[in-house]
Amino acid sequence: MHFEYTEEQLMIQKAARDFANDVLKPGVIERDEHQKFPAAEVKQLGELGFLGMMVDQKYGGGGLDTVSYVLAMEEISKIDASASVVMSVNNSLVCWGLEQFGTEEQKQKYLVPLAKGEIIGAFCLSEPEAGSDATSQRTTAIDKGDYYLLNGTKNWITNGSSASVYLVMAQTDAAKGHKGINCLIVERGAPGFQIGAKENKMGIRGSDTHSLMFTDVKVPKANRIGEDGFGFKFAMKTLSGGRIGIAAQALGIASGAYELALAYSKERKAFGKFISEHQAIQFKLADMATEIEAARLLCLKAAVLKDNHDDYGTASAMAKVYASRVAMWVTTEAVQIHGGYGYVKEYHVERLMRDAKITQIYEGTTEVQKIVISRSVLG
Ligand code: CAA
Repeated sequence: MHFEYTEEQLMIQKAARDFANDVLKPGVIERDEHQKFPAAEVKQLGELGFLGMMVDQKYGGGGLDTVSYVLAMEEISKIDASASVVMSVNNSLVCWGLEQFGTEEQKQKYLVPLAKGEIIGAFCLSEPEAGSDATSQRTTAIDKGDYYLLNGTKNWITNGSSASVYLVMAQTDAAKGHKGINCLIVERGAPGFQIGAKENKMGIRGSDTHSLMFTDVKVPKANRIGEDGFGFKFAMKTLSGGRIGIAAQALGIASGAYELALAYSKERKAFGKFISEHQAIQFKLADMATEIEAARLLCLKAAVLKDNHDDYGTASAMAKVYASRVAMWVTTEAVQIHGGYGYVKEYHVERLMRDAKITQIYEGTTEVQKIVISRSVLG
């Protein structure tokens, strides 16, 4: 067991940190306030290779490991969790799934531009009545011979209006339950495909979360990923890796808030000394640092298991449930350490506290992670 990063991993971490501080930080408060998607910044993330980090270089990716991805996600999320969710969905939910299960034709047509960051993708599983209970898909994909006829509504879709490629789960044969679900690649602009209202969210307000409507959209059979009925398993396998990305996002939100609180505690004086000299604050900082380190180790363990091609489903659920809890707790403590200043936008910690909450909800709520973990524990 080694606890050292490679030179390459450290280089990626530094590049992500520099990008976050130099490019993302200046406009992050304004984007949050006005719910402005970081289009120019995401374009640059793509040019630097952060949108297809783990994809094989032959498909335009960076060919990097999952540990590097965790390090980069942490750095980007410290500053801008709205940008990092775009990065996470594109890397983990869209590129990974296409690379693992797509045909060569699908990879050339969709994966290559996605991995290069020329376009971004969206993963469409959630529905108005199928969130945690993901087998209850109401969207239908009726087999019409050489195409599927797609009808239904998807909810809470990250990259909803900015994506060019959408991976859409839909029920083809209801009698088969989850074994009748398919994943179809739908292109933006397909006749009958409409992008619905943008959600006005508590946090990650720079990301564009939309509902999507499909009305008699014809999707060629060639756009189905995997065998007939593979869609649900495709979604579950993809989400197992996605949860490492969201755990790393939660870790970044927590460590970003912690770093701000640490710096503030050395600047702010109360009762005649820096607040970092008061034991009440010292103990808070000690607990925050300890919890963050524990979350980091869980993220890295899941990443290493994935890189070693071992089973990582339980480890990624554990990393997500723990890191997201740490994110909520640490950001709340960071606001507390800042006192009144923590409650206003200029000090960044109130945004991080709002951003933290989503990590307990998307890519499987905390309760879903506990279903996954308890099934593993109980056998
Ligand atoms: N890998 C491979 N196969 C898996 C799997 C995994 N991780 N998890 C389940 N499966 C398989 C099971 O083996 C089973 O297959 P068989 O019938 O052949 O044995 C099949 O899938 C059905 O599994 P379950 O019986 O366990 O299904 P369930 O109805 O009990 O649900 C669940 C399990 C864990 C609750 C699942 O529904 C789930 O993960 N729900 C949450 C969905 C989710 O994360 N949504 C997030 C949306 S995406 C998003 O948020 C992205 C974003 O915008 C940021």
